[in-house]
Amino acid sequence: MANPSAEELSHSARTQWELFQIRMFYQLAAFRKEPLAELIVRRPQRAPYPLYERIRSQGELVHSTLGPVAISASHGFVAQALRAPELGVAEPPARRSGLVRPIEDSFLMRNRPDHPRLRRLVTPWFTAKALQQRRESLLKLAHQRIDELAGQPSFDVVQDYAVPLAVRVICELTGLPVGEDWRRLAALGDILPLSTTAGLPSTRNQRRLDAGWANLNAYLDTAIAQKSQAPEGSLLASLVERSQDPEQLGRHDLLATLGVLLIAGFETSVGLIGHVTARFLDQPDLRRAAVADRSVLTEVLEETLRYEPPVQFTARRVNQDCEVAGHRLQAGVELFLLLGGANRDPQVFENPNAFQLFRANSKAHLAFSAGEHYCIGAGLARLETEVGLQALFERLPELRRAGRARWQPTQNIRAYRRLPVRG
Ligand code: HEM
Repeated sequence: MANPSAEELSHSARTQWELFQIRMFYQLAAFRKEPLAELIVRRPQRAPYPLYERIRSQGELVHSTLGPVAISASHGFVAQALRAPELGVAEPPARRSGLVRPIEDSFLMRNRPDHPRLRRLVTPWFTAKALQQRRESLLKLAHQRIDELAGQPSFDVVQDYAVPLAVRVICELTGLPVGEDWRRLAALGDILPLSTTAGLPSTRNQRRLDAGWANLNAYLDTAIAQKSQAPEGSLLASLVERSQDPEQLGRHDLLATLGVLLIAGFETSVGLIGHVTARFLDQPDLRRAAVADRSVLTEVLEETLRYEPPVQFTARRVNQDCEVAGHRLQAGVELFLLLGGANRDPQVFENPNAFQLFRANSKAHLAFSAGEHYCIGAGLARLETEVGLQALFERLPELRRAGRARWQPTQNIRAYRRLPVRG
């Protein structure tokens, strides 16, 4: 098993005192309403949309006073920035050995030419046609899980239904083993919120994160070693075969690619399932209409993605001086692109703070980003949410809330961590 080396852990070696000072610095700046600081220290439980609105009211692009960082909650700017060839993701320094951290080491955080080369290797498993062939098996997985839950007086829709369903779906799609050991994999889902938080780093979180990555590396190494058990034609089998030639795909890229599909592929979908479920619990008429008519259900999904996107922001670095949406940008500047803010821009969405079905431009939201890094799993997320919730509410039509819901404790992933219900 790949344990993190001392060097790899060095970035977590900041003293508590240093962290305390950084935290105080941001707290004070946020008190002065500095927008970057406000985003960083905001409490994840609170809806971020009023803050985004305030930032948007200051302009399409708001420069931070804390460093070479600019923020946008404007749909026009964010959509163009995501597609601008002069911008890219901020690649971490190349690491070809040691602990693999899929969020930062995978194609999610790579630019050309590595990004398209690696992304292409997995694209065939995510086409509309490939996904439609999965509908039946997905439905079966949903019913299996509902069978296990149906007799219980109460359960947690997030941890007991959405998480195991999403883990099994992504494992089945990739050919990674899940068995009955899904809880071990599900625990890895906590990594994504920790690794993408805009909040201040803490040594405890960094340690938890690296321990999680080490677990994931061990799981993937075992799956690769037992590749003969992977279904023929599966994504796992295909990638392992390519990795026989390290020039084509080295171990580091192999683990990062499999890992990012697994990690990015379930906590986000769990977020969407949680948001739609919460709405159905609070609006039984809407729930009945959606279960009876798939076109209503797909509208609910799309509007939920706009209104409450599970991924709230992303970032880009300006690689060369350029102009985006009429704004001059200097090389080296970091952009904080608020997807959740763009989705509530009144220039694009009429009455943006209202949850409103059948908008003429219901797919203009940026919940799945845009441009080269557009979410590869968008179709899968839509399919598993639609199939999973239709099955759940058909089988358990009387579900009601059964206690306090809790949020994931991060700024970027906006998702319920717990949503208790009873039948
Ligand atoms: C509702 C569920 C989901 C949401 C809201 C979501 C959101 C996003 C966003 C916003 C990005 C782009 C980040 C950027 O531009 O910097 C992204 C990329 C990505 N997503 Fe998703 N995602 C979801 C589900 C999934 C699923 C089910 C998978 C399964 C494999 C997945 C895999 C990925 C991967 C691999 C990337 C990187 C794409 C690239 O860099 O080319 N996502 N996702």
